[in-house]
Amino acid sequence: MDHFLYKNGTLHAEGVPIPEIAAQVGTPFYVYSTATLTRHYTLFTEALSPLPHLVCFAIKSLSNVAVLKTLGNLGAGMDVVSGGEYLRAKAAGVPGERIVFSGVGKTREEMRLALTGGIRQFNVESEPEMRALSEVATSLGVTAPITIRVNPDVDARTHEKIATGKKENKFGIPIARASEVYAEAARLPGLQVVGIDVHIGSQLTELEPFEQAYLKVADLTRRLRSEGHAITRLDLGGGLGIPYTRSNEAPPLPTDYGALIKRTVGDLGCEVEIEPGRLISGNAGLLVASVIYIKNGEGRDFLILDAAMNDLVRPSMYGAHHDIVPVAEPPIAAPTQEFDVVGPVCETGDTFAKGRDLPLLAEGDLVAFRSAGAYGAVMASEYNTRPLVPEVLVNGDHFAVIRGRPSFDEILNRDTIPAWL
Ligand code: LLP
Repeated sequence: MDHFLYKNGTLHAEGVPIPEIAAQVGTPFYVYSTATLTRHYTLFTEALSPLPHLVCFAIKSLSNVAVLKTLGNLGAGMDVVSGGEYLRAKAAGVPGERIVFSGVGKTREEMRLALTGGIRQFNVESEPEMRALSEVATSLGVTAPITIRVNPDVDARTHEKIATGKKENKFGIPIARASEVYAEAARLPGLQVVGIDVHIGSQLTELEPFEQAYLKVADLTRRLRSEGHAITRLDLGGGLGIPYTRSNEAPPLPTDYGALIKRTVGDLGCEVEIEPGRLISGNAGLLVASVIYIKNGEGRDFLILDAAMNDLVRPSMYGAHHDIVPVAEPPIAAPTQEFDVVGPVCETGDTFAKGRDLPLLAEGDLVAFRSAGAYGAVMASEYNTRPLVPEVLVNGDHFAVIRGRPSFDEILNRDTIPAWL
């Protein structure tokens, strides 16, 4: 469910007509709905209650500070994977005790940043990382709270590039070696073991892989406790999928996911953390673009937009589907035309959709990509020297530009010419 609906024949973001934003900001741009972000975050907190819990938004999915502040003000924690994301969470006013630090390659500098600025826990992913963290913490005269991410060797049944819980993936320590690794962690002077972390992948459309992983975590909790570790916290990761098409997809709901968590780990007396990204941000955002040209090719018609793979890379990177809708509502049973929807970038990979049935469109018309809030703007680049796509946040009848489009001067001024030239 989202808050992007047609009203009086025009697509709106909550109470704001999309063309009004386009007129002020120009296209392409991302637009996010406060009401959808709030609703999705709230669904998770309700699904986990009354368990003691913290919903840590995976910043990597949508990292604009205004979005983080929206969620942070509701009480959300944040899951960060870099020093930069940590600073974004802090800039949004989220206290360190609500920030968890994930990722396979944390540098000592990033560890120092989080230890001095305040951190709830590090989700440690390897023995060398564990030793480095202990050294950094000791040198600062503090103790680092940690969970250790275990790799449960579970098939998440999702796209191979975003599955993380199989033994051949780079993430976590093999669950079979957990006793040994936890024993070493307990001996290291700069660490305090507080729990277990697991994350098996993204865009999961079934609950069963979560169930397998969480049952393994429950067993491990009992075993580690019997070995003398105080396991008080379980970080169960993110990954719950969203529907990318209106019609035929029905991934499990946060309520079902919450019930599963209660069923698998609810009796352990642990505080539960989850790290959802996509389910909170995905359907809270649109990418809005304009039609530049309609080009009639050999046996196919191309809809050439002013948005490109540098603005939304998911279709070319993962073959991902995004619904594309006209901003002007088409009449019921209006004729359609089959298009290859493409951007202006000089690669054939700059294709959003092939053979997509769309209502008749003309140059200058606005279209919107649905479900673009997660892994959209954050993965954008300036490839082909196309300015980084702006972001807009809507709240009821208001909107604000939360990241402006850089000018060409700003872009060019970032390059410097060495003295010898
Ligand atoms: N926690 C960890 C440790 C993660 O690696 C991820 C996502 C999440 C949480 C959040 O997962 P989510 O709830 O959003 O599924 N760029 C790809 C997705 C990459 C996901 C990376 N890790 C895409 O566009 O589909």
